[in-house]
Amino acid sequence: MTFEVITIFPEFFASVLDHGLLKRALASSKVSIRLHDLRDFSDDRHRTVDDRPFGGGPGMVFKPEPVFRAVRAVRAKSEDSPVVLLSPQGRLLNQAAAEKLAQHAQVTLICGRYEGVDERVARHCATDEVSIGDYVLSGGELPAAVVMECVTRLIPGVLGNEESSRQESFAPPASSNGAGVLDCPHYTRPAEFEGLRVPEILLSGNHEEIRRWRRRQALEKTWRMRPDLLSGAALDDQDRSMLRDIQQIERLGD
Ligand code: ADE
Repeated sequence: MTFEVITIFPEFFASVLDHGLLKRALASSKVSIRLHDLRDFSDDRHRTVDDRPFGGGPGMVFKPEPVFRAVRAVRAKSEDSPVVLLSPQGRLLNQAAAEKLAQHAQVTLICGRYEGVDERVARHCATDEVSIGDYVLSGGELPAAVVMECVTRLIPGVLGNEESSRQESFAPPASSNGAGVLDCPHYTRPAEFEGLRVPEILLSGNHEEIRRWRRRQALEKTWRMRPDLLSGAALDDQDRSMLRDIQQIERLGD
């Protein structure tokens, strides 16, 4: 998998690519990341990439020509690969979208800046417009790093233990496409810290009981924090019975 990142701040990525998962994936050649300075695709000696918005208003807008030129140059060999424009107007990134991107050998990421990017880029150059959340950042560089991290960890062989991605929040069950539930709470030594004890069940050694406890905790956390996920989650009869229990206890506490 190769990420082609089009940005006016290539140096932004130095530390992101030099740590943790992305660093390891790069070192083992599971992914490669090529940084392209958008200014290299401008056509004037000032290396201009932006201009004032038609119709007036504050700020500057990325011009279409350098972006189209950059995408055509980096995507030349792989015409049907995704071209993702990172912008707050995009479709929200989720695990399913990351899984789709992880299927491709090449993904091009366009980092927007300033007040916006000429809409012709979104409509006629990018294949997807993606937002990482309902908040506004000043550019697409952090979002591009987020996309690269969450897609890279889905590439086979990148995570030491394939299971570790499956058990986390949002990982869909192997048999379905639906969103999962949130991850269960985790604890480690010491068993008591400033009077706060780890749940006894985790020290019991009873693996079946621990599995059930973890599932219940995961469902409870999802019910409290992200009830919206439950309608799309793959739940079995035992899950549904646990959820009824959790909801009933909640009602009694009101
Ligand atoms: N650029 C600015 N804000 C963004 C967001 N939330 N997601 C993706 N790109 C962005």
